[in-house]
Amino acid sequence: MAQLPASRIAPIHPVDDPDARAEAARLLRAGQLVAFPTETVYGLGADATDEAAVARIYAAKDRPRFNPLISHVATAEAALALGQPTPDAERLATAHWPGPLTLVLRRRPGCPIAWLTSAGLETVALRVPGSAPARALLAEAGRPIAAPSANRSGRVSPTTAAHVAEELGDRVALILDGGPCPVGLESTVVDLSGDRPRLLRPGAVTREQLEAVLGPVELAAAGDTIAAPGMLASHYAPRAAVRLDATDRRPGEAFLDFGGTRPDADLDLSPAGDPVEAASRLFAALRGLDRPGVTAIAVAPIPEAGLGTAINDRLRRAAAPRR
Ligand code: TXA
Ligand code: MG
Repeated sequence: MAQLPASRIAPIHPVDDPDARAEAARLLRAGQLVAFPTETVYGLGADATDEAAVARIYAAKDRPRFNPLISHVATAEAALALGQPTPDAERLATAHWPGPLTLVLRRRPGCPIAWLTSAGLETVALRVPGSAPARALLAEAGRPIAAPSANRSGRVSPTTAAHVAEELGDRVALILDGGPCPVGLESTVVDLSGDRPRLLRPGAVTREQLEAVLGPVELAAAGDTIAAPGMLASHYAPRAAVRLDATDRRPGEAFLDFGGTRPDADLDLSPAGDPVEAASRLFAALRGLDRPGVTAIAVAPIPEAGLGTAINDRLRRAAAPRR
């Protein structure tokens, strides 16, 4: 990543050290990446409300696609202030938070979670980790922290600080070490944004435990949301058509530029041609340009390098014929 020379390996400090946590919280508030232990796996954390900080997560992981991320907070109250609580959510929060459970809820109006964190979705995934030092860090950061597992895309999730250092040591500002993760498996993800609860990802909280609280819980079909969250029907697609690799501007179109190719562009994802900056602006740009009178959003070519791959993946979906 641009702000860290490739040779610099992040310092590793004990998560139980209050000074280390204070430094980690400061770095997170400044938009930097910090790896930290939870009871499930190590997370690659960034300020969930900062589009640019979240873009750095995707860049560090080499993720070819914008999967929605979990926002971690210190208390159930904080979580339920971000998503719209349902009676099921309140019951599960009481029974299993703090703990290895993630709830997908509809965004509350004014929810500050960045669009890139939720990959453009109207829902947010929320978790209050069982690990007390993780919650202490979250409380000190004072804002939701987006954290996928702290591994490169396609690799196994890390359960020790050494795993994190191997995979991402040159891409984070700091690694907090809490020893081996006791659970060692990602959190259970339950979607409560629809009519009925759906288990999106099995995890440490079992289906039986969920059903003891909720009654029957259906399992999301394979190839459903979890295999390809970017294909969710509820995934934001602009009302206007999307035209890719545009070099001209046609009547009725809004022009979304990259790298300053057109002085008459409505918006430029990154005048400097930086794909990380472009990713941080992508979802807000699609929403902003999707206004009455605009028949199509013409998008300048974006090079298939680094985060450009994920940006183009998302744009191709937005441009695909509508069902
Ligand atoms: O245990 C865990 O959950 C770890 C630790 C670090 O907390 N985090 C983690 O994050 O596994 P990640 O990004 O690897 O997994 C997020 C999961 C994905 O399966 C994603 O599709 C789902 O949550 N998810 C997130 N937001 C969603 C949403 N709005 N709708 C549906 N699924 C969502
Ligand atoms: Mg993962």
